[in-house]
Amino acid sequence: QNNVNDPSLIQLVNKLQDVFATVGVQNPIDLPQIVVVGSQSSGKSSVLENIVGRDFLPRGSGIVTRRPLVLQLLNRPKADTNGTKADLKTTDKEANQDEWGEFLHIPGQKFYDFNKIRDEISRETEAKVGRNAGISPAPIGLRIYSPNVLTLTLVDLPGLTRVPVGDQPRDIERQIRDMVVKYISKANAIILAVTAANTDLANSDGLKLAREVDPEGQRTIGVLTKVDIMDEGTDVIDILAGRIIPLRLGYVPVVNRGQRDIENKKQIQVALEAERNFFENHKAYRSKAAYCGTPYLARKLNMLLMMHIKQTLPDIKQRIQSSLQKYTAELSQLGDSLLGNPSNVILNLITEFSRDYQTVLEGKATQELSSIE
Ligand code: GDP
Ligand code: NA
Ligand code: MG
Repeated sequence: QNNVNDPSLIQLVNKLQDVFATVGVQNPIDLPQIVVVGSQSSGKSSVLENIVGRDFLPRGSGIVTRRPLVLQLLNRPKADTNGTKADLKTTDKEANQDEWGEFLHIPGQKFYDFNKIRDEISRETEAKVGRNAGISPAPIGLRIYSPNVLTLTLVDLPGLTRVPVGDQPRDIERQIRDMVVKYISKANAIILAVTAANTDLANSDGLKLAREVDPEGQRTIGVLTKVDIMDEGTDVIDILAGRIIPLRLGYVPVVNRGQRDIENKKQIQVALEAERNFFENHKAYRSKAAYCGTPYLARKLNMLLMMHIKQTLPDIKQRIQSSLQKYTAELSQLGDSLLGNPSNVILNLITEFSRDYQTVLEGKATQELSSIE
């Protein structure tokens, strides 16, 4: 799996939701939001699209992303094809598909074609801010329902810019900065600080801003894009080794689709294959190809998500245990021993779950941790 939607993690989270729904705790795990920050055209939308593994975001040279896009991925189990769904007399073939998008500004309309999702993002952007480089902090809300995604939120943001163009207001730099800070300040945001590898890391606006809100670097991952178009003979090895601006969670170099690839509608899977070839055959990266590219970035993100779940679990268990205690106390006051002990069922469920959970989690986390530096 080359994206953030790792099947074993999806299963794990679904199981968590199920178990906790059984004991009446809703949404026990609030997974972090993944937010991109960086200069205009550094490749933010491209990175986000690659880690979701679907084509649906407007990308391109110049200021394309002009409103925040809050993208909620929602896990929804596959529809039962033998059941009621097949009975629906629908002539619309698409209605049987398990994946679709829905915009908050057009409730009820399902988009099965991801190209149409991209068109709608552009249309809705222009509706609010016009065609001429205007920006707005008013977010566009998009939900993607699929059996193959983690229930997770990702945020695409306009790029940091210095000089107003077109109809942009004089204080555009500040406006965008305030908008970005609002999203990356959240304690549960994982920041992808995107810098094009053919620009100077020391001038990276994304990194600078990330540092302001996350000085310890506990939730910032450096992403280096455009590694494929660096000057001949230069590479990002010194950056990866932490010799330029060290980052606790490190940097991941990636190769996204270039402008020509976008025009030629190069498929995401083809692009990922090309990325892999690039790193495996490049003399500077060959020996560390396992730590380069989008799949590695996705694994790093998954590891952070797992650590987050791990950190939240004791608290959730605590909450459940105390409500169980209260429940049991009430029962014994009623003096009704005939009921047996219903809380045992729940306790068993949790215990069984915890065992599964630990096995999956410990195995994966150890494996991932040891692959990081
Ligand atoms: P954003 O403005 O930061 O969201 O950047 P986009 O994702 O829209 O990309 C801006 C431009 O850079 C587009 O033309 C992309 O095709 C191009 N681009 C992004 N990443 C890469 C990369 O890794 N390599 C190359 N060659 N081009 C890239
Ligand atoms: Na752009
Ligand atoms: Mg963008």
